[in-house]
Amino acid sequence: MSAGERERDRIWTVLQLLRWTTDHFAERGIESPRLDAECLLAHALGGDRLRLYLDYEKPVEADERAAFRALVRRRAGERIPVAQLLGQKEFWSLRLQVTPDVLVPRPETETLVAAALEAFPDADAELTILDVGTGSGAVALALASERPKARVTASDLSDAALAVAGHNAEQLGLAERVRFVAGDVYAPVAGERFDLVVSNPPYLAESEAPGLAPELEHEPAGALFADEDGLDVLLKLVAGAAEHLNPGGLLALEIAPGQTQRLREACGGAGLREIAVRRDLAGRERVVSARARGED
Ligand SMILES: C[S@@+](CC[C@H](N)C(=O)[O-])C[C@H]1O[C@@H](n2cnc3c(N)ncnc32)[C@H](O)[C@@H]1O
Repeated sequence: MSAGERERDRIWTVLQLLRWTTDHFAERGIESPRLDAECLLAHALGGDRLRLYLDYEKPVEADERAAFRALVRRRAGERIPVAQLLGQKEFWSLRLQVTPDVLVPRPETETLVAAALEAFPDADAELTILDVGTGSGAVALALASERPKARVTASDLSDAALAVAGHNAEQLGLAERVRFVAGDVYAPVAGERFDLVVSNPPYLAESEAPGLAPELEHEPAGALFADEDGLDVLLKLVAGAAEHLNPGGLLALEIAPGQTQRLREACGGAGLREIAVRRDLAGRERVVSARARGED
């Protein structure tokens, strides 16, 4: 019997596979090796991560191992994000479809959702909301799910992203209250005003690209990078806010830590008030918000 055949015939339990893969991912510099191994093995076995803990000593069948091996290879070799390998990502308790056409929703973006909900605490309010650069629909759909009487407009430059967001809205039963429009920043909503404008726009500087994690190469560049300093889309959002907010309405933007001061100044210059900064769970400045003038 050859070494390859012996390896194929060896019994591998769930725990052994997890240990081996965690070490392999760690050696390859994957940031969360154990978590990634668990997500991929659960997917290959057709269950969830909790099930793995109950099945630690269970042998994994050869066909399941082959499916898992293929996922491990793509994760460690090609550095494809786990969410793209699974085709989905949890965000604000919503399960969203994710494809290479959209940014993988990030946990820090939940800070943006939390800031918006805190500013509009009445769950029954008939709000109008605009989400610019909706991607998978993460922020728009989280807000629509939390404010059942809100009407949400979600925009993006990318038609491919809007198709994914539309699919997610249908899957979550929110499509009736979410309108999708294509175009640059406020162009698709010319002449319209909203109670709340939110955005997690591209905010990385193009010059940062070489130093970033290899996983980012699998996400759309247009979702990540904005010009030389990363501020291009953010500043357009601020400049047009007064024209698109109802009196007293709120603008809330996700930013990169380090952009705070520039955004504060821009908000002040655009006549917005009550400028505030909120930190994410890692303690980094992550959201800048400001209000339009109220009725005088
Ligand atoms: C950082 S991703 C955020 C996606 C999603 N909102 C999220 O938080 O997961 C930014 C999104 O903005 C879109 N975008 C980039 N430039 C834009 C522009 N000028 N106008 C409208 N959308 C834009 C990209 O296509 C991408 O889907």
